[in-house]
Amino acid sequence: MGKGKRVGIVGAGNVGSTAAFILAMNGSCHEIILRDNKVDIAKGKALDMSQAAAAARSHTIVSVAEEPNQLVDCDVVVVTAGSPRLPGMSRDDLLLTNARITREVVRDIKTYSPNAIIIMVSNPLDAMTYVALKESGFERHRILGMAGILDSSRMAYFIQEKLGYGAGQIRASVMGGHGDDMVPLPRYSTVAGVPLNDLLTDEEIDEIVERTKHGGAEIVNYLKTGSAYYAPGKSAVIMVEAILKDTKQIYPCAVYLDGEYGYSDVVSGVPVSIGADGAEEIINISLNACERKMFKKSVESVRQLIDTLEKHNFFGEK
Ligand code: 2OP
Repeated sequence: MGKGKRVGIVGAGNVGSTAAFILAMNGSCHEIILRDNKVDIAKGKALDMSQAAAAARSHTIVSVAEEPNQLVDCDVVVVTAGSPRLPGMSRDDLLLTNARITREVVRDIKTYSPNAIIIMVSNPLDAMTYVALKESGFERHRILGMAGILDSSRMAYFIQEKLGYGAGQIRASVMGGHGDDMVPLPRYSTVAGVPLNDLLTDEEIDEIVERTKHGGAEIVNYLKTGSAYYAPGKSAVIMVEAILKDTKQIYPCAVYLDGEYGYSDVVSGVPVSIGADGAEEIINISLNACERKMFKKSVESVRQLIDTLEKHNFFGEK
């Protein structure tokens, strides 16, 4: 019998546990290992999911790593660990706190799952993907950030809501960082192959673009004490499954740019072909002047976060 696939999930909060649950229900891998500092929470959720897997006749086993060295030999590790913004915390404080958590998690992955492909989910997403790359020393195709699938799913839903039809037939496209200046691309969005411009007015498309940019905040405003997790969890699973099944399908993902789109030494969301090696191919799509300008602004925002980390000597710390 061949070796079963093993997926690690760091952070058993809402996003991490939703991703684990979907993977377990899909039977996408042999084993899921949850890791969280709150070990009992992870254990309770793993037990609950294992029982759901038994009900679903899924062969996937869900276990818990009580120590970092138990998150061992994973093929893929999804990192959702991070601090929420606490009262009195500035954006810079949050950035540094989560960068330090990411560094610690990534060092453990490097030690105990040295062949893993890492999918970053923690915010600020693009900066954390950059930190994971620098701290792991892995080749860049092994570090991907999840945001583009989520943001384009939100856009697809808003298109469907506006049209009143087309559910399941919408391909929406979003590039750039996972922030207010992400770059929704109506020109690359279709409903069953029909370009968006043939179905909606410019004003309607603008409304969809704006709502997409603030799609995360819209949900936080309702939930009050937390942020979205069903669509983020599902989006992470899509990436995990593309890797495990070596599908080589194209999805927007946050990756380290090394000259693509004219940028280097920064992370941003671009279309990527995902397979067993992770981000196997970065796809260069042609952008018009306006889209290029928006992409530039988005890349610059991520660059600023990296500069802030550098200013605090984050990359020089041990
Ligand atoms: C979201 O977009 C907060 O990044 C999270 O839902």
